[in-house]
Amino acid sequence: MTMNPKKLYPRTGDRETIYLAAAITDPAISVGDFTIYNDFVHDPRDFETNNVLYHYAVNRDRLQIGKFCSIACGAKFLFNSANHSLSSLSTYPFPIFYEEWGLEKRDVTKAWDNKGDITIGNDVWIGYEAIILAGVTIGDGAVIGARSVVTKDVAPYTIVAGAPARPVRKRFSEETIRKLLKIRWWDWPQERISRCLEAIQTGQIDRLTASPQ
Ligand SMILES: CC(C)(COP(=O)(O)OP(=O)(O)OC[C@H]1O[C@@H](n2cnc3c(N)ncnc32)[C@H](O)[C@@H]1OP(=O)(O)O)[C@@H](O)C(=O)NCCC(=O)NCCS
Repeated sequence: MTMNPKKLYPRTGDRETIYLAAAITDPAISVGDFTIYNDFVHDPRDFETNNVLYHYAVNRDRLQIGKFCSIACGAKFLFNSANHSLSSLSTYPFPIFYEEWGLEKRDVTKAWDNKGDITIGNDVWIGYEAIILAGVTIGDGAVIGARSVVTKDVAPYTIVAGAPARPVRKRFSEETIRKLLKIRWWDWPQERISRCLEAIQTGQIDRLTASPQ
């Protein structure tokens, strides 16, 4: 067993799948251990440029992604500078063209509405080309269908799909979800997770909760 969540490429000979944390340079983006990103169109190391869009430091908005997430090719996070202001009588972004219109440079953020950070929990699976909008929080264990447009928060262990994304179903019973959210296996030491992999993969929640530290 050679687990090292800080490396870039977890699979020998596979340059399309990375441990995303190793490719992050922007201090406004944080990614947990073992979260993977796969990209067969572009270099997955260019995630910050290709997938985190309209994300400008001036807004101080953050992208936070937990551990053990699976992010499919082309999933995108659309940040606040994408939201032309809807309180203005015009959606034309005059404040961005402050030189043209004699406006103050410091008021540039008035061009858009700021809905806040994007927060993704742990063990979240984000499908192919899904779009997550600014201000959205996705709970632990959620699943986002391919090409979904996620406009609202997603509860833990809920599958959502479509544009706008709507709940399809819960992944497990309320009791199992409660137990999973309590044990937070993703925070366990790697060795314990490794020992419990069979219980995780075969859905044996009680074996997981009873596993020795
Ligand atoms: C969301 C997903 C996981 C749902 O799987 P599931 O629980 O087996 O769902 P079902 O196939 O039973 O579909 C349930 C309903 O959701 C709809 N649905 C499923 N996926 C959808 C999607 N991506 N967009 C819109 N609607 C979707 C189905 O049409 C169905 O609707 P209905 O109840 O009106 O008939 C799956 O459809 C999906 O999108 N997977 C992502 C695959 C992917 O992107 N992989 C990338 C490589 S990791």
